[in-house]
Amino acid sequence: MQTNNVARNSLPSPDDISAVHSERVAAHIRDAIANAGGSISFAEFMQLALYAPGLGYYSAGATKLGADGDFVTAPEISPLFGHVLARQCASVLDQVGAGDVFEPGAGTGALAVAMLSKLEELGFLPDRYLILEVSADLRERQETLIRSRCPQYLDRVKWIAELPARFEGVVVANEIADAIPVERFRIRNRKVEQARVAIDGKNFAWQFDLAPDLLRHAVMEIETDIGRALEDGYESEIAPGVSHWVTDISNCMRSGAVLLIDYGVTRREYYAPDRVQGWLRCHFRHHVHDDPLILPGIQDITTWVDFSAVASAAAEAGMDVAGYVTQAHLLMAGGLAEELADFANLPIEKQVELSGQVKLLTLPSEMGENFKCMGLSRGGIIPPPGLAASDRAHML
Ligand SMILES: C[S@@+](CC[C@H](N)C(=O)[O-])C[C@H]1O[C@@H](n2cnc3c(N)ncnc32)[C@H](O)[C@@H]1O
Repeated sequence: MQTNNVARNSLPSPDDISAVHSERVAAHIRDAIANAGGSISFAEFMQLALYAPGLGYYSAGATKLGADGDFVTAPEISPLFGHVLARQCASVLDQVGAGDVFEPGAGTGALAVAMLSKLEELGFLPDRYLILEVSADLRERQETLIRSRCPQYLDRVKWIAELPARFEGVVVANEIADAIPVERFRIRNRKVEQARVAIDGKNFAWQFDLAPDLLRHAVMEIETDIGRALEDGYESEIAPGVSHWVTDISNCMRSGAVLLIDYGVTRREYYAPDRVQGWLRCHFRHHVHDDPLILPGIQDITTWVDFSAVASAAAEAGMDVAGYVTQAHLLMAGGLAEELADFANLPIEKQVELSGQVKLLTLPSEMGENFKCMGLSRGGIIPPPGLAASDRAHML
């Protein structure tokens, strides 16, 4: 996601319609808190704020992605991103034989449009391009975009309500893991406390209670993995939901690969001694801040991904880690130069436009370094070219 960092008090005010909607979401969450006896875990709060049916940020009609929304993702920045991903898919589909492509959480449909056209050009147009979309509003936007930009592929696109029981081919998940609700915890007097959300007047407020066993054990496992006890006062997140999601995807994969792209780091980096406030971020109207308890239902809440946890969940389900590279390396080794082969012959305005897009996607100060691509595979798949150079899997 591309957004500007700002202090909470310099956020823009929501328009009247958004403010009314946010109040409806807040009332729904207040009811849930009251029904739960005064507080809910942060994971439950995040689930409601993002996914409460008809109300949550991703479930209701907020614009979300793009210039008029709250953030911009790589497929929105440039079709080059989808074209290079299609090259990686083609490499896997070639090995699998007759496989499909599956995109969970397809945003506006921009990635599907870019990938389908490139896959056809490469001679690997799949029979089925599956999309699992939890947001009815985004599903509608995806269909409208595909119908207007490439109607010839519409009969291959199938919206599914749950993970397929068996899947062969390539799963492409861009910025999904960061949108899955997380638990927050802190260490206090050598004890693990769970961050919970309670009500303070009309606002939501943090409350810290002794962590339930599951969370306490998960934190102890982190400490074992990183070889250090987390310091007193240390606060962070942990994402059991991401591990479950990776397990579910891995279990349905018969043969092929999963390409998981997101901002994230290894476990040691995630729980580094100086990262004392965790990795949670909120996006509102292209501003980024760190207060998830405000603007419920009209701002995105997201966390960076612990890629070591993703690799462990996949390995437990019998998948191999086929590579862990930065987005810049994925694109550069994966065929970006080939995509730009005609660059010198393009009109100057087009060259300027493409240069800007490449910079956003690849520069370390933009999306090039913080975003990683993790490849997971089953069935002895040779990693596609984008995962082969500068693999950092040994750091996980
Ligand atoms: C930040 S958006 C990314 C959208 C798109 N992939 C892109 O790159 O533009 C996160 C998306 O993940 C979806 N999502 C969250 N949990 C999901 C799940 N368990 N299965 C499928 N999609 C999910 C949300 O509905 C949302 O569309």
